[in-house]
Amino acid sequence: MIFSATLMMALATGLTTQAEQAKKHPYQDVKRPVEERVADLVARMTLEEKLGQLTQLTLGQNTNHNNIADPVGDVAGETGSVIYFGEDPEIHNLMQEKALKTRLGIPVLFGYDVIHGFRTIYPISLAQAASWDPELVELACAVAAREARASGVAWTFSPMIDVARDPRWGRIAEGYGEDAYTNGVFAAASVRGYQGSDMSAADRVAACLKHYVGYGASEAGKDYVYTEISRQTLWDTYLPPYQAGIEAGAATVMSSFNDISGVPGSANPYLLTEVLKNRWGHKGFVVSDWGSIQQLVNQGVAADNKEAALKAFTAGVEMDMMNGAYAPHMAALIDEGKVTMAQVDDAVSRILTLKFQLGLFDKPFVKVVPESERYLQPASLAVAEKLAEESIVLLKNKDGLLPLSADVKRIALIGPMVEGDTHLLGSWSFHGREEDVFGILEGMKGEFGGKAELLIARGSDFDGEDRSGFEEAVRAASAADVVVLCLGEKKQWSGENASRSTIALPEIQQALAEEIARVGKPVVLVLSNGRPLELRGLEPIAESIVELWQPGVAGGRPLAGVLSGRVNPSGKLAVTFPYSTGQIPIYYNHRQSARPWGGQGLYQDIPSTPLYDFGHGLSYTTFQYGDVVLPKTEFTVGEKFTVRISVRNSGDRSGIETVHWFINDPVCSISRPVKELKHFERQEIPAGESREFVFDIDPLRDLGYVDADGRHFVEPGDYFIIVGEARVRIVLK
Ligand code: NOJ
Repeated sequence: MIFSATLMMALATGLTTQAEQAKKHPYQDVKRPVEERVADLVARMTLEEKLGQLTQLTLGQNTNHNNIADPVGDVAGETGSVIYFGEDPEIHNLMQEKALKTRLGIPVLFGYDVIHGFRTIYPISLAQAASWDPELVELACAVAAREARASGVAWTFSPMIDVARDPRWGRIAEGYGEDAYTNGVFAAASVRGYQGSDMSAADRVAACLKHYVGYGASEAGKDYVYTEISRQTLWDTYLPPYQAGIEAGAATVMSSFNDISGVPGSANPYLLTEVLKNRWGHKGFVVSDWGSIQQLVNQGVAADNKEAALKAFTAGVEMDMMNGAYAPHMAALIDEGKVTMAQVDDAVSRILTLKFQLGLFDKPFVKVVPESERYLQPASLAVAEKLAEESIVLLKNKDGLLPLSADVKRIALIGPMVEGDTHLLGSWSFHGREEDVFGILEGMKGEFGGKAELLIARGSDFDGEDRSGFEEAVRAASAADVVVLCLGEKKQWSGENASRSTIALPEIQQALAEEIARVGKPVVLVLSNGRPLELRGLEPIAESIVELWQPGVAGGRPLAGVLSGRVNPSGKLAVTFPYSTGQIPIYYNHRQSARPWGGQGLYQDIPSTPLYDFGHGLSYTTFQYGDVVLPKTEFTVGEKFTVRISVRNSGDRSGIETVHWFINDPVCSISRPVKELKHFERQEIPAGESREFVFDIDPLRDLGYVDADGRHFVEPGDYFIIVGEARVRIVLK
């Protein structure tokens, strides 16, 4: 055992080595308020120690500590934070022990990209959004927090809440789609799930809103590139999710890579200081993205790393993630009078405050328990599976092919995704393991075993030109009553720096689908992907289309449940599926065209409307929307009121309906989108019954607009409330 006797004793008694050394200083006194402890500690620190706190390095990769003499040797004990690539709590404890042995004994903050689960991987965020179930997302984040903290990770670089309107951009998978309000709701839910009400609890972590801001506006869907964003668009589209996350109490924020109309996100005083700190009152800290400070040189706003450090730090970035910019240059910048010690103290205080809030000073070590107790607990798996079920979107279901009838006795299971278990995990699932995934094949066998025979043929790979498997696939299709064709994307096709020039699937998959279609059997197309796809070539050849996304460890079980009818699909798209890549950017809340007749801008060669709209998603039952009920139709601008709608399940099985409430302001001082989502509600409705859905309207919040400097206004005049097919006019006096 590599732990020291003192540490073992401390772990056994629950006391820390520092605490045992008698509480010499106020900062070591658990009973004192955090502010006092921080102030006392900062007053004792040398500049070098302070710069240590502003620095984030990496730790790990090799999780087998038996193979390394000193696994934490390279990382100084005075380092503020590490990105922990490992997951072994013993290495975490070794590093903490090293930190506690330094002069002041400041514990290290372990961060990691816990994006959609730590080991119990659940669906990617874009899929989660399709559930419209923030309460469940909150639970999933709590599962992730519990597993992460058990490995020593006390800080996740999540949620990503970048509104994204270009599905070529690989990172669209990581956020909650194209709508600002939706991203805001899920931002708040994630923050609650990660942080809980007390971040010092052994099963909670600090959240980090990223990437502040406008990263999703990347030109042509490419990563790391310039973004052209007007102040108006910043305020009405890109900033609201962050404001919602801050209001929910997010401890930290990550500054973005992108150049925002000439002022990069990691050197932007307006956004980092004026908006985030001064107006929104954020008391936590900002960490740069990986290398985003030194990259200010590449972006042409700093001559060298020193100037980059100056720009980022004075703009409001407190922690340097893998730039090597602050520690080497800050002393000179202070000597030159460009940075003050008060600024450094403020930055250090923000970081130390979080360490105290996380309880790291008082309980720096993690209890070492076997992996089997840390991960993949039944309750956690149940959350992951439910979320995967709720994320599935039934895009098309011609003649009610789904759920498959009991008469279906032979199912041909075809396509590269049939055996692509690892890809079901999605991007950013580094501690996820293929063997944890319930594969599509496994799911189908479990669901249909004894009821229908499965004829399995991969047909083709995800890409390439090898058609040698087509023949076997055609044979399987010919012998079957129905074909379940499983196509999609590899997990590495989305995520960071994973842009694609087309959102159509590779030619080989299209060719396989066409070959299968020629057999003439009914086709259920199952898609697993990290972005909206161009489906114009595939849609006509499938009777039914099921969007599975990248569901995580639950993998094929929820899908099989949808195919059999055990699960009634309820997901709805939180992102538009374009008809073709050439339509990008295309999103529901666009501004009105100057000549709106005939469409919103016409193409000569393709339709100008998407294939599947934002909010689209079918069920195995039918819902009938009643009339919109309003207390009256004229209100004063300051008057709050409630609108209701009754929805009846007119089918013969229970189903879940999400009602989306949009508004439209047809005439305003600034132009407004054709519709804007302001509220959504999800309820289960038993067959034959009705449920009431309610939208509480606060005119300033829900009908008003934000200007190019973040001021909110509501103007008298006509407004429309849009729900289902209804468009109801109201007047504000
Ligand atoms: C770069 C990514 O942009 C960011 O999302 C991530 O959190 C950091 N690397 C750390 O891995």
